[in-house]
Amino acid sequence: MSLQVQGLHAGYGRLEVLHGVDLEVGTGELVAVIGANGAGKTTLLRALSGLLKVRDGTVLVNGTDVTGKGPEKLAASGLAHVPENRLVFPTLTVADNLLLGAYTRRRRPSAERDADRERALALFPRLADRLGQAAGTLSGGEQQMLAVARGLMARPTVLMLDEPSVGLAPRLVGEIFTALGVLRDDGLTLVLIEQNARAALAIADRGYVMDRGRVVFTGVPSELLGDARVQATYLGGDFSPAGGAGDGEPRPAGGSVAMEGG
Ligand SMILES: Nc1ncnc2c1ncn2[C@@H]1O[C@H](COP(=O)(O)OP(=O)(O)OP(=O)(O)O)[C@@H](O)[C@H]1O
Ligand SMILES: [Mg+2]
Repeated sequence: MSLQVQGLHAGYGRLEVLHGVDLEVGTGELVAVIGANGAGKTTLLRALSGLLKVRDGTVLVNGTDVTGKGPEKLAASGLAHVPENRLVFPTLTVADNLLLGAYTRRRRPSAERDADRERALALFPRLADRLGQAAGTLSGGEQQMLAVARGLMARPTVLMLDEPSVGLAPRLVGEIFTALGVLRDDGLTLVLIEQNARAALAIADRGYVMDRGRVVFTGVPSELLGDARVQATYLGGDFSPAGGAGDGEPRPAGGSVAMEGG
């Protein structure tokens, strides 16, 4: 098991956002976490990567208890977080952004970094043609690819991505999700936060549905896609079931759910 999260509580000031989240991600598994705006998905990733204090619960990475560790320790333990809104360093070149991704491995031989860079560029060939370009001048999709490639430069065992599809044309979403599938097939463990639930479930091995700070449903994609309540609340309600029925108890999130590209 690459990632085991039990009873995770976290929040901001007096506001508790996560009320005891349980999540398990097996080695080499691609797990999608879906849910409405404000459900706490980003907060979960922030807590897991040490940017936000864990108030209660435990986090194990590759069997080691890392609860309460700071971002640098967590990165060293193998977790990498690709934040939302493709946060690249805009004035730095693509090449320098990639180099910064390898910061936690700066004491390793540079040949290793070069090999990692070649692998990342093979996954996203568009970046290979733009190594000297300032990252801020890349297209939105290219910036997202760079954000993912930079995350890979840390050689993580678990790569966590926060809504990599936001604001991208369907073709680019397809390119990025295809790359994530390739990484999974290579043995990387991935946690994919997405509003674009259909696209995420199309490549995921399993999915979790979050609602107001809790996991309310979990299963394989066919179970999520085939569940009437998940469909109605998170999938726009216009999906023809592919079969399978869930046995969880998702509550309606209340209010409309913004779906990407639909
Ligand atoms: N820095 C902050 N300070 C106070 N409250 C915050 C902060 N960041 C997020 N929140 C609140 O925490 C709750 C969960 O937010 P979060 O960003 O985790 O949701 P999300 O599931 O990622 O939503 P989205 O799909 O819109 O990205 C929201 O009610 C939000 O207003
Ligand atoms: Mg978010």
